[in-house]
Amino acid sequence: SGYVTLDLGYKNTGATTSNITFLDGEKGILRYRGYSIEELADKADFLGVSYLLIYGELPNQTQYDKFVHEITHHTMVNEDMRKIFDGFPVNAHPMGVMSSLVSAMSGFYPESYGSNNDKDVDLHIIRLMAKLPTLATWCYKKSQGHPINYPKNKLDYCSNFLHMMFGLPVEDYEINPVVAKALNKLLILHADHEQNCSTSTVRLVGSSQANLYSSISAGISALWGPLHGGANQAVIEMLEAIKADGGGVQKYLDKAKDKEDPFRLMGFGHRVYKNFDPRARIIKKAADEVLEALGIDDPILDIARGLEEAALNDEYFIKRKLYPNVDFYSGIIYRALGIPVNMFTVMFAIGRLPGWIAQWKELREAGQPIGRPRQIYTGPKERPFVDIADR
Ligand code: CMC
Repeated sequence: SGYVTLDLGYKNTGATTSNITFLDGEKGILRYRGYSIEELADKADFLGVSYLLIYGELPNQTQYDKFVHEITHHTMVNEDMRKIFDGFPVNAHPMGVMSSLVSAMSGFYPESYGSNNDKDVDLHIIRLMAKLPTLATWCYKKSQGHPINYPKNKLDYCSNFLHMMFGLPVEDYEINPVVAKALNKLLILHADHEQNCSTSTVRLVGSSQANLYSSISAGISALWGPLHGGANQAVIEMLEAIKADGGGVQKYLDKAKDKEDPFRLMGFGHRVYKNFDPRARIIKKAADEVLEALGIDDPILDIARGLEEAALNDEYFIKRKLYPNVDFYSGIIYRALGIPVNMFTVMFAIGRLPGWIAQWKELREAGQPIGRPRQIYTGPKERPFVDIADR
């Protein structure tokens, strides 16, 4: 048929039905499988929430124990993956490295592709959930010139990540429970967000029946961009720049408002939330708590608060319903936890992984057709070929 509706950025196009995440942008409501984000962030743990997203229900004790046990016992990565990893330059951005390594994983589990690639999906899910944090910590260790730290099976998911990140083979690393708890909360808050750019990417790639590893690798690439997950890194860089510039926020507000200037207030605005981002509220509170518990006084937090207040009272931001989003305060917590700026978006990816998996699985189980948007052609009309000598 010749009739095509144009919707740039898919602002009003529903690409799928889904029973995973409910989001009401006007009211600031976010629920995973019917459970409010506030309650989950407060009462659940990240792997329990991951199970909920992927399998549809909160796990009972037996299901939970099995899920956690399996993830814990798949955290080691095939040593041959190290050869691929070692080939990256030391200053390669971890998001590019992560996306490549996840894609490479398909080669280590060839049963994931081919005509019958829905076989063993649960095992691929476990492997991805288990190994993504391990791969992430490789990137950090390499940037420090340190040997990688192997996972420890006796540790829980977040503690194990902290151990691999900050522990050294030569001494025990003491895990601060405040840090592990904060990390758990951040991962839960990032775990799914319906049809955002990276999730839609995962679904689109998955719709061609590409394997789970390739689909997730594509999601990581999409998340990397500064308008999406990369915003958490961009926020801290912006706050640092404001600090170096004397700490005044007005100049940056004016820059953000200036339509001639491409600068945007990073961590502000959202395609769907038009009143507030419920995740930002929880994270702002958590940032206060974490910094206090760790005894950290970060001048950047004051700048962030000042910027938020100034923006919320500014006509430009009020009129366009621009509020702090999930990325505005998350970087401040990551920094307090000792996670370097170029790893922020990697943290987002670790958090978003169960959401991507759940959405990929839902698409496949629903047997949805391949995704294939249409276009409105605006190029030249038919014209005769011009010989190279005549151009
Ligand atoms: N600073 C200044 N102006 C802004 C901003 C901002 N951060 N965000 C939107 N606007 C303006 C924009 O210029 C436009 O103004 P006008 O109507 O005069 O042309 C209006 O607000 C609507 O913006 P839009 O670009 O049409 O909105 P969108 O839904 O396409 O974009 C967004 C949403 C999140 C990409 C955008 O708000 C933005 O670029 N924010 C900064 C980057 C950021 O924080 N991203 C993280 C998003 S949340 C987590 C995630 O998705 O990963």
